[in-house]
Parts: sequence; C-alpha cells; structure tokens
Amino acid sequence: MAQNILLIISGGIAAYKALDLIRRLRERGHDVRVVMTPAAGEFITPLSAAALSGHEVHGALFSLTEEAAMGHIELSRSADLIIVAPASADLMAKAAQGLANDLASTLLIATDTRVLYAPAMNVRMWLHPATRRNVAQLRTDGANFVGPDDGAMACGEFGPGRMAEVPAIIAAAEAMLQQGSKIALPGSAAGPLKDRHVVITSGPTFEPIDPVRYIANRSSGRQGHALAAAAQAAGARVTLISGPTALTPPQGVHVLAVETARDMLAACHIALPADIFIAAAAVADWHVAHAGGHKLKKGADGPPQLKLVENPDILASIAAMDEGRPGLVIGFAAETEQVIAHGKAKLQRKGCDMIIANDVSPASGVMGGESNSVHVISTEGVDSWPRLDKSEVARRLMALFAAKLRDQRP
Ligand code: CTP
Repeated sequence: MAQNILLIISGGIAAYKALDLIRRLRERGHDVRVVMTPAAGEFITPLSAAALSGHEVHGALFSLTEEAAMGHIELSRSADLIIVAPASADLMAKAAQGLANDLASTLLIATDTRVLYAPAMNVRMWLHPATRRNVAQLRTDGANFVGPDDGAMACGEFGPGRMAEVPAIIAAAEAMLQQGSKIALPGSAAGPLKDRHVVITSGPTFEPIDPVRYIANRSSGRQGHALAAAAQAAGARVTLISGPTALTPPQGVHVLAVETARDMLAACHIALPADIFIAAAAVADWHVAHAGGHKLKKGADGPPQLKLVENPDILASIAAMDEGRPGLVIGFAAETEQVIAHGKAKLQRKGCDMIIANDVSPASGVMGGESNSVHVISTEGVDSWPRLDKSEVARRLMALFAAKLRDQRP
C-alpha cells in the first residue's frame, strides 16, 4: 500500500545511497518528502533529491515561504513513517537527547510517527559508548534500526558502520508500516492494551554464595525491557520485575528491582493481579543452600562444596494459580539445541498459554545481543518469525497478546 514517507538525510558519504532509496521507494508507490541536514548538502545536492522525489527539499527550520505552504511540523506529523538514512552519530545523539535546534531534530521530536534509523558512520563512532547509549535510548523510545553492515569503509577502516543496503532499508520500512506507524505518547495511551495490567519479569537473577559472591547468567534484560516498553506503548499499565541489569527502564513503567529468584517470585505476587503475565527473566535454576553470612575464606580444607537447591518455578506457579490467574500467562524458552521440541515440552510442563522459544547458543548472538528470532508455540501450533530487532519482536508479541486477550472477552 502506498504510504507517505519522510526521508531525513544527514551528513555522511552514504548520502549518495539515499538518492537511490528515494527512487526505489517511489517505484514501490510511496510518496517521499525529503529533508536534508546542512551536512548532507556537503555530499549531495538538494536539487538531485528534489528531482528524484518530485517535491521541494526542506533544509532550514525557519523559512517564511515554506512555512506558508506547509508548517514544518506537518512534514513529520503527516508522514506514515520517518526514515533517517544515513543516520549520523550527531543526529542520533540529538534525537536521543530530545534536542530541537535544527529542522531534522525538530521534526524527530515533534511527532509520534515511528522512526527507522539506517546509521552510517566510522566504526569507532558506532562502537563508542556514547553512540551505544544513544541507540539504546532511541530503541526504548520506540525507534527501529536497520544496519549498519560490516565491511570496508570509505575512511579505510573495517567493521560495523556501513549504511544498510537500500533493499534492506525498504524491507525494514515496509515491515514497520504494516505494524502501524505511531508510538503511544504518555497521556495519549489508547492502544489495544488500554486499561490492562501487564506484569513482566526480566533480566537475570543473582543467587548469593556469600555476601560478596554470587551465581548469575548472561541475560542482559533487553528482551524483557523491550516488552515493557511495547506494553506501555500499547496503552497498558506495566509492572517490570527486574533482576540486576545495566538498562534504564522505560519511563512510566513501575519497576520492582530484585536479586534472587525467590525475591522475584515474591515481587510477582505483590504485583498481581494482572491481565497478562510474561516471564522473560532468565531465572537461575538453583540457589546455594546456606549462603554464608561471612565471606568464604580459602583454607586447609580445600574449595568449599556448594550445595545447590532448586529455585521455585515462577512461571509454572503463576500458570497454576486457581484464583487470580492472569488471563494470559506467557513463558520464554531459552534453548541451545532442539529449540522447538524443548519449547513444546516447556509449554506442557509449565502449564502456560504460550511459549516464545529462542536459540541462545553462543553462535546465535541472542544473549546480550540486539536481535532475536523466535518461535511462538501454543496449543494451536508453532509460528516461526524471521530474525528481528528485540524491540520489534516485543511490539509484534504485544499485538498478538492483545488480540488473544480480546478473543477471551465474554
Ligand atoms: N522460569 C521461571 N522460574 C524459574 C525458571 C524459569 O519463571 N525458576 C521461566 C522463565 O522466565 C521462562 C521459562 O520459565 O519464561 C523457561 O525458562 P528456561 O530457563 O528456558 O527453562 P527452565 O525452566 O530453566 O528449564 P531447563 O533448565 O530445562 O531449560
């Protein structure tokens, strides 16, 4: 279906590919309006972009003639999707901060239209902690990313930083357009989960050995946090029960911070009742019996023999509740082999309504990574999704859960 796309071109050698992007989007029937930052003008001319898009190209925040024809803000409000390609480190930093000191950054903050970023920059800029922080913030705020790809760069270095190829940008954009193109701003929540309470467990648990040591796992909490953001964007009231992570929880989500599996279970019961319970945490299977109150010391007796005791199964216990069981109880299955077979077995064993199974073998890069490919397993069968950004997985899952809940309503 033809849609209105606002393309923001920021500075970078990859800007020349944005011209091809305009052409290909128009071939697919989309209307493309273009905004260029002043830095983009160092690489390509507004005239080329205007000729290819068939519309005037905008560049300045204050222009009387343009303002009379079409308020600048309208450019991003009337768009079904905003694509930033190439997305420079500078523009992403401004957007992550919410700055509005030029046309591109103003358009990005003055709208609830979703944004797809196709970053392109030097590999060290992409890997710099400041850029990592900004990307994480933009994802939390509902943006999506395509690329960057690995490869030899114009600056002579090698690594992630090349802008994604045009077909990949178009595929990501069209997938977003199918999903609905608005993010829910706080106070305007009227999504499919309005008036619903969603409780989500997230992250690892830490099981103490003594006051200074603990058993943990590699879960980053990204998937659980992305689910919380997506549930909130869908209009739900969200309680996030999180083990220790380095993530900033989404604004407006009620957070219960816990360490151990036993604390997590207790926090779940504090948070209930809920319409949807999602167990996304990587709960430790065992804790150490009689964890010492004092730091264990090396001694003549050799290393301590740790006795492990099984932790309560939070998901199974909530799925088995007689009274007050949430309308939908969802589990995740982290597997390193036979993902679907183990997922099906877990659906049965845990008594939940759905298992979202994923491959967490080291080769998959899922643990701690930014994308995930999941299999949605229920008694109705198995639906295997393509590899997607964790925030996109979360959004699609939330749309699915909302539809399931709706079907349950008498
Ligand atoms: N889970 C839970 N409480 C536990 C263990 C797991 O709530 N004590 C939940 C997880 O949050 C996830 C699902 O159960 O939603 C499956 O977790 P996973 O670690 O894959 O499975 P396990 O139950 O640990 O089974 P196994 O060790 O056989 O993989």
